[in-house]
Amino acid sequence: MGSVTRKPLIAGNWKMNLDHLQAVAFVQKLHWTLKDAGHEHDTVEVAVFPPFTDIRTVQTLIDADKIPFALGGQDLSTKDSGAYTGEISGAFLKKLDAGYVIIGHSERREYHHESDADVAAKVQAALRHDLVPVICVGETLEQREESGPTAVSVEQLKVALEGVPADADVVVAYEPVWAIGTGQVASPEQAQEVCSALRAVVAASLGDEAAARTRILYGGSVKSGNIASFMREPDVDGALVGGASLIAEEFAAIVRYQKHVGV
Ligand code: PGA
Repeated sequence: MGSVTRKPLIAGNWKMNLDHLQAVAFVQKLHWTLKDAGHEHDTVEVAVFPPFTDIRTVQTLIDADKIPFALGGQDLSTKDSGAYTGEISGAFLKKLDAGYVIIGHSERREYHHESDADVAAKVQAALRHDLVPVICVGETLEQREESGPTAVSVEQLKVALEGVPADADVVVAYEPVWAIGTGQVASPEQAQEVCSALRAVVAASLGDEAAARTRILYGGSVKSGNIASFMREPDVDGALVGGASLIAEEFAAIVRYQKHVGV
């Protein structure tokens, strides 16, 4: 099951950073940095996940300047519309040409107490609106010590994929909680071990064909200096990048990991 048929995806999760004016400057800079470097977008897909208040602006810019970046939301409601103050519907994201939506990021699970059942409901909401869910899973250090490296992520993904049809397009992101924003990066071998277990979950839940085409990303302190080592692993098909996605030159260098010395 080689990664040859899966187009690598480098996704920038801005979290609560960059207002809509900063977003314009950032997206233009990223676009021109990649263009100047001769990046070919058919080799590696680039996606940005701005805060909700930036999405309209980023969509307009991408559209007007024909910038080949995919766009996504960082979360969505389980509901489609109605009296849910503060919530954002998948329909609204779709209307703004978002293709993706991050679901179950560990910061949502921790600070907003999102359960595996909430994550599963959000996956269904995304699919109802033709959005590709980027399903985040990952263990804390205590959980890794208690139940090993794969158990938590495997269980989280199993629940998230309940009721998902075999032909659905999904992306999975393995993000060990202990590696997010800490600078304490997982080793490529650790990432591969869990990503391979997650691919087996996709196979068991959605079938072998889905497992072969589903992209599984690693996330947690990814930088231009370590991305290539992750991308060499057979079950790592890209990265979900937080901090390093906010610096245009650094994010562009991550996107261009194939050009790094020694790769
Ligand atoms: P980080 O965040 O790259 O800053 O560790 C990754 C993420 O949370 O998606």
